[in-house]
Amino acid sequence: MEEFEPTIIAFFCNWCTYTAADLAGTSRLSYPPNIKIVRMMCTGMVDPKYIIKALLQGADGVLVSGCHPGDCHYINGNFKARRRIKLLKAVLDPFGLEKERVRLTWIGASDGHKLSETINEMVAQVKALGPIETKKTMVI
Ligand code: FES
Repeated sequence: MEEFEPTIIAFFCNWCTYTAADLAGTSRLSYPPNIKIVRMMCTGMVDPKYIIKALLQGADGVLVSGCHPGDCHYINGNFKARRRIKLLKAVLDPFGLEKERVRLTWIGASDGHKLSETINEMVAQVKALGPIETKKTMVI
């Protein structure tokens, strides 16, 4: 039997985590290819609907990452993201989706190593949870 390889959609802030992903690449740090990166100008632009849609349309997990608190280029976008994702996680469970499938992190532009570690951890965690294929039918 083939090992389950999760698909994880990653919404990365352009100014911090996306730059860290770029740095990880140029530093030749490795992370699994399970991550599909969507570049956002700020985590504050990540509407919870994007996360739900990703999960309903084939993603097994969603990673949102941006600037550290206090470093957001749009003043408080990351605080808005933190509140929204906290609320979203509270409603995932009734729909049969584990809250561990959604993760919010702060990774600065110079944190290529942290980015690599975070992606490796997230892929391992979602792998352990397994696919959500059967649960999607419950949600729809
Ligand atoms: S600009 Fe990076 S989280 Fe807002």
